[in-house]
Amino acid sequence: MLVNMKEMLEKAKQNKYAVPHFNINNLEWTRFILEECEILKSPVILGVSEGAIKYMGGYKVVADITKNLINSLEITIPVSLHLDHGSDFANCKKAIDSGFTSVMIDASKYNLEENINKTKEVVEYAKKFNVTVEAEIGHIGGSEDNVNSGILYADVDECIKLVNNTNIDFLAPALGSVHGLYKGEPNLDFNRMEEISKKVNLPLVLHGGTGIPDFQIKKAIACGTSKINVNTELQIAWTKGVRIFLDNDTSTYDPRKIIKSGEDSMKQAIKDKVELFGSKNRA
Ligand code: 13P
Repeated sequence: MLVNMKEMLEKAKQNKYAVPHFNINNLEWTRFILEECEILKSPVILGVSEGAIKYMGGYKVVADITKNLINSLEITIPVSLHLDHGSDFANCKKAIDSGFTSVMIDASKYNLEENINKTKEVVEYAKKFNVTVEAEIGHIGGSEDNVNSGILYADVDECIKLVNNTNIDFLAPALGSVHGLYKGEPNLDFNRMEEISKKVNLPLVLHGGTGIPDFQIKKAIACGTSKINVNTELQIAWTKGVRIFLDNDTSTYDPRKIIKSGEDSMKQAIKDKVELFGSKNRA
């Protein structure tokens, strides 16, 4: 069932677990995630970056693949199709018009006033189509960033202003997480996370879920995080399976067999995250 993120994240916030956001890159990944989450009875968010959308052939292709897989695989869990890090109104609109059920407008590189204006424009359009909106504030680091540099922690007052002036559904405040692999132990500001959660009273989103130790994930959930984004860890898990297969088999050339060789290790990584986030049997 394709739904927006409203109910699934509000339920998660109330019951203190997090819904996994897994990034998809192709048809097979979409299928692997849907199948595994269906077995685990976990709600799931399929996050798609603008780069992955281009790679897969466009917004409509991604939405149609997802809808058709949900139908043909007889998926019953709540699934949200979400634009990850939408860079502007035009791309958020393309996602909404193509059938995405949720979008993120990432105007975090702008000053607060511009972030508010750009976010508001997306919210006004999205609401007409029952599409939920996530916004970001502060700067989430990239793998080029050290845990102690390149990250701009979100300011509590700015978070409140962004929420009050935009009517967004979810907030992703940068609090020390990094996309990709961490250099050293992640340095998340849990006190600030808890304070922001209480003051904005919306489900919070944690980006850069790869490489955060389990105890910190649990702490983030306890501090109000209801959606955790994971991309790199699934890529590593899938590649591990494929690499082992190819290292031991020099004659196979059927792409189906090669892509499938990463299925078990990727599904295991999905299962581990669902269990850690507490979203199993919540569908
Ligand atoms: P990771 O690649 O670090 O798991 O981050 C994913 C993410 O935050 C996507 O928005």
